[in-house]
Amino acid sequence: MFMVSAAIVLVMFLLNHLPSTFVRADDKLIRQVCHNSEAPTTCNQCVKADKRSDNANTVGIAKIVVDCIKFQANNLQTNISALASIYKDDVAANRTITQCQKLFSHAKSDLNTATQDLKNGNYDASDKSVFNALLYQNSCKTQFENNPKIKITPHIYYGFNIFEKLSQIALRIIDRL
Ligand SMILES: *[C@@H]1O[C@H](CO)[C@@H](O)[C@H](O)[C@H]1NC(C)=O
Ligand SMILES: *[C@@H]1O[C@H](CO)[C@@H](O)[C@H](O)[C@H]1NC(C)=O
Repeated sequence: MFMVSAAIVLVMFLLNHLPSTFVRADDKLIRQVCHNSEAPTTCNQCVKADKRSDNANTVGIAKIVVDCIKFQANNLQTNISALASIYKDDVAANRTITQCQKLFSHAKSDLNTATQDLKNGNYDASDKSVFNALLYQNSCKTQFENNPKIKITPHIYYGFNIFEKLSQIALRIIDRL
């Protein structure tokens, strides 16, 4: 019995006195960076899901978040395109969907620029590119809101939401670089 308690005490002692290097520095950094963003949970989920987060610095974390936005942009573009066949006989709806596809192509191109800017250390330019991508996304969303005949799926609605959250997160991180 004494041995067991002694072992427990020893374990407790070790847990409390582990040198901080035993805790992965990146985990601490991710928590710190995400904690400062508007949506810490979304931020954590995005960053931790990427293998590169194992040894990412703050710029690396920003790159990962921008990639998460790209992923959302691709999914949104694909899912919006899928609506085209449903509304092919409605000229106005068709126009909205076609325009949204174009807007997302612009957004994706801005996001690629943002990544390039991060690599080159042009943080102001990167910030601007992420912001422009968000404007394109917003412009598409507004078109759908102005055309209530188009029923967007909950997936798409949720996708818009995540896209916006991730953009705010990226902007906040890049602002502080
Ligand atoms: C819908 O848009 C496609 C191009 O994206 C076009 O080929 C088709 O004719 C359009 N349909 C209508 C009804 O405007
Ligand atoms: C796109 O559609 C797929 C399949 O329905 C779904 O799993 C995904 O969450 C959707 N994503 C977005 C952003 O709409």
